[in-house]
Amino acid sequence: SWTTGNVIDEQVAAIRELVGTKRAICGLSGGVDSAVAAALVQKAIGSQLTCVYVDHGLMRKGETEQVEKDFVAATGVQLRVVDAEERFLKALAGVSDPEEKRKIIGREFIRVFEQAQAEIIAEAGSEGGEPVEFLVQGTLYPDVVESGGGTGTANIKSHHNVGGLPEDLEFKLIEPLRKLFKDEVRMVGQELGLPEEIVQRQPFPGPGLGIRIVGEVTKERLDLLREADAIAREELTAAGLDREIWQCPVVLLADVRSVGVQGDGRTYGHPIVLRPVSSEDAMTADWSRLPYDVLGRISTRITNEVDEVNRVVLDITSKPPGTIEWE
Ligand code: XMP
Repeated sequence: SWTTGNVIDEQVAAIRELVGTKRAICGLSGGVDSAVAAALVQKAIGSQLTCVYVDHGLMRKGETEQVEKDFVAATGVQLRVVDAEERFLKALAGVSDPEEKRKIIGREFIRVFEQAQAEIIAEAGSEGGEPVEFLVQGTLYPDVVESGGGTGTANIKSHHNVGGLPEDLEFKLIEPLRKLFKDEVRMVGQELGLPEEIVQRQPFPGPGLGIRIVGEVTKERLDLLREADAIAREELTAAGLDREIWQCPVVLLADVRSVGVQGDGRTYGHPIVLRPVSSEDAMTADWSRLPYDVLGRISTRITNEVDEVNRVVLDITSKPPGTIEWE
């Protein structure tokens, strides 16, 4: 019968057998799937695995630290954190169009990841070590079904724009979660000793806060949004609502200003939008009927504690017609 213990034992044995003395790399996003996949492979092959985490500067407060400290503490994994904030902000400067932002972020992400990958491969080679032959991915069963099924290991062609990679290099994929659903992945993660905050994480988009600032993305605006977002998350968690809502994007309307009054002065600041939704699969969603007192606390705290924000508004649009994210 299905137990998380069985799944872990089976996968660990299979991965050891497959990898032998070779090496593997894994990209960490901060999300549940890649974290659990990495922890599982780490359990199997230890220091033969290197994880790469690209910090694009668009993460929420404490998120990078969580990967750097908590994840490493829980797994002992060998981690390479690439600080790419400057690079991303430079690439995003002056850009307001949502699709344009998404394209830039996706492109830069792949470049940085490939560069780190090439460095790891070069280091392994020059040390006379074993080649890096495997790439770990946190593919789940629904991902497999959605992309047309198939079993076995797929090969990924190397990208030609990566210096230092052999032309014909192919990675063999390790996908230890490809038979599991999300709730099962969470159980496996828990069994592997990953912290609750990682295992029970709500979805967060790859482009991060970059698509939660309506308008140009700048460091100042990101810092402001990070503060507001941290307050909303803190209050939702304190109210015990994390499992009830699917996620709650917090959005900064950077191009909008409205008049307010605070202390004995006029303010002219930006609105923050709260977008709490309930959903089964993110394909459709409804706006969450959050308790008024929780909404009130979030509003009071954000307007008091975050400079330049003088108004908090609630998004009460279902999906469709609205999407969950604003961009
Ligand atoms: P939308 O806005 O399309 O979002 O209703 C549906 C779900 O997907 C998440 N999302 C993303 N996740 N990369 C991701 O990994 C992305 O580019 C991306 N865009 C949206 C969103 O947070 C929601 O859970």
